[in-house]
Amino acid sequence: TSNYLRHVESMMVLPSGAGEISHLNAVILGEALASEENDLVFPCEEFSRQALVPSPEKYLGMYKRSITDPAGFWSEIASEFYWKQKWGTQVYSENLDVRKGPIKIEWFKGGITNICYNALDRNIEAGNGDKIAIYWEGNDLGQDGSLTYSSLLEKVCQLSNFLKDIGVQKGDAVVIYLPMLMELPIAMLACARIGAVHSVVFAGFSAESLAQRIVDCKAKAVITCNAVQRGPKVIHLKDIVDVALVESAKSGVSVDVCLTYENQSAMNRQDTEWKQGRDIWWQDIVPKYPTTCEVEWVDAEDPLFLLYTSGSTGRPKGVVHTTGGYMIYTATTFKYTFDYKPSDIYWCTADCGWITGHSYVTYGPLLNGATVVVFEGAPSYPDPGRCWDIVDKYKVTIFYTAPTLVRSLMREGDEYVTRYSRKSLRVLGSVGEPINPSAWRWFFNVVGDSRCPISDTWWQTETGGFMIAPLPGAWPQKPGSATFPFFGIQPVIVDEKGTEIEGECSGYLCVKSSWPGAFRTLYGDHERYETTYFKPFPGYYFSGDGCSRDKDGYHWLTGRVDDVINVSGHRIGTAEVESALVSHPQCAEAAVVGVEHEVKGQGIYAFVTLVEGVPYSEELRKSLILTVRNQIGAFAAPDKIHWAPGLPKTRSGKIMRRILRKIASRQLDELGDTSTLADPNVVDQLIALSDC
Ligand code: WT7
Repeated sequence: TSNYLRHVESMMVLPSGAGEISHLNAVILGEALASEENDLVFPCEEFSRQALVPSPEKYLGMYKRSITDPAGFWSEIASEFYWKQKWGTQVYSENLDVRKGPIKIEWFKGGITNICYNALDRNIEAGNGDKIAIYWEGNDLGQDGSLTYSSLLEKVCQLSNFLKDIGVQKGDAVVIYLPMLMELPIAMLACARIGAVHSVVFAGFSAESLAQRIVDCKAKAVITCNAVQRGPKVIHLKDIVDVALVESAKSGVSVDVCLTYENQSAMNRQDTEWKQGRDIWWQDIVPKYPTTCEVEWVDAEDPLFLLYTSGSTGRPKGVVHTTGGYMIYTATTFKYTFDYKPSDIYWCTADCGWITGHSYVTYGPLLNGATVVVFEGAPSYPDPGRCWDIVDKYKVTIFYTAPTLVRSLMREGDEYVTRYSRKSLRVLGSVGEPINPSAWRWFFNVVGDSRCPISDTWWQTETGGFMIAPLPGAWPQKPGSATFPFFGIQPVIVDEKGTEIEGECSGYLCVKSSWPGAFRTLYGDHERYETTYFKPFPGYYFSGDGCSRDKDGYHWLTGRVDDVINVSGHRIGTAEVESALVSHPQCAEAAVVGVEHEVKGQGIYAFVTLVEGVPYSEELRKSLILTVRNQIGAFAAPDKIHWAPGLPKTRSGKIMRRILRKIASRQLDELGDTSTLADPNVVDQLIALSDC
């Protein structure tokens, strides 16, 4: 059995007070204890009583089964979904060990199904056709809309028919570049219905990044809208797409169809640049198509979507998720981790341009027949009370967001929260980065009125769904800890040599064995998949995160151990920002590190050296930042440019980032040994220039 299982069994003795001690006692208890790891917050009895997993014992029983009999555990769950044809004799097959041959993960192979059918048709057949699938809330107050499951299906079918009509076939890729309109999940589901592979590109990415993604998957069509409002700003998305399509054509991928939704609240069609023959207004054509569309039945292992994410080196990686395992995993993690009940109204603030929006705005909730709130706007517009206004308006019961938003709202004061009732809320969720205990407490005490458990969900684009997260009502929580693994997940902590360490420890977070939602490859680059994730610690999937496990078996994520930084829950590769900076004609060299940032978690700090003879100026600083905005997107713009006459390098020419990190975070007494530097003087120079 797994080491983890032994941990949990041995710790079962400790939190046995769950359900006996109220959370109020626990808060007092928490204050009395010095360290974070002794700070326990117990679920209230009332919550636990109604929870799907009401106790640690129940969790442990289910967890044990999922580890000792994964095939039985997952196939039982999968049987609740619709399969045109059942999977073959093997529920799963895997090789996660590079020493034993190519990495391969398959779940429900041979099973024939369709995720759109399971999310929509299946729920309608079960009598939920009139249930609201999506409540949509626009940027401005008073702009809203909704779709029932039946009307959502009709809209999806019309778009599926259109896509088929323009020649999109099973396996073809479609790029979606849309803001949070209902048309975004509609477009994803329409692709899934006909077996097309969607590649959603977050609408904050630049034309260049969009072009790269269009070229990489040789998109058959692009779906976008003319403009979007974000707070007081209007962003002309279609102009960005136009530039991207010119770029991608230069690389040999010319897209014949650009379906454009007219987002009237942001911009009229008359003001939109138009390319006859290529551009089509969504509203002019899609509603003319039939409202039913046959499903394209696909194999469980057929690809569902591509989603690009940043790595520590090189170009973004196209993470590939397939249909069957992803379907079962997102549905199941959604259900248990949020203690989902059919009466819930669920709101996740993430954008569908990121994995959170794929798994927990679109697929996970809709597969459960849930009612989902989709919000187009900015959470502090028109004022920082907007989220709670939305919670009251739709009677949101489950609210899932990121620590960066919690911290930014926390700074605005409690008054914006307490003026709203929020009494509908019962479960809160957090994702994207570790949530610091003080933000956790504010979220718990102020937003949730000390009543709602917080699911701090650790997972990744690659994992498809939640990996480590507290099941609400089951566990006493520790603010800042993602607690325990989901069913079927065996997290292991390894040392530098890749040896598993047990008990209280810290090291690199890996996962042993596969799970249904795991990504199957990197698009077009299986070798990079193996090298990045499976070679560092043979036998395991390596997450790239550091983690410690305390004496009670709780997991504490400590951040990335590679050159990936996490800004407001968005992953950014330092190498990508560096390569954008050095593309500036006056920049000779760049080194980017992450620094602590009060709201964003991490900020981007860039050291740059300039081409011989070029003076550093405010103008140049701005133009360097603009280059990054144009090449990647505004969210990747450096917070700080630090002009460097030289960078600290070893004699072999390797930049010593360790030193740069210390300089960036002003930990000048912790610079460590600088004697191995080719020129130790650069360090003093850099420190002297810190405030330029
Ligand atoms: C990285 C994955 C998964 C959806 C959002 C980001 C960090 C994510 C947590 C958490 C601590 C977290 C990790 C991870 N991360 N959630 N609850 N606690 N760290 O997806 O862009 O693939 O980023 O985000 O560092 O590796 P992503």
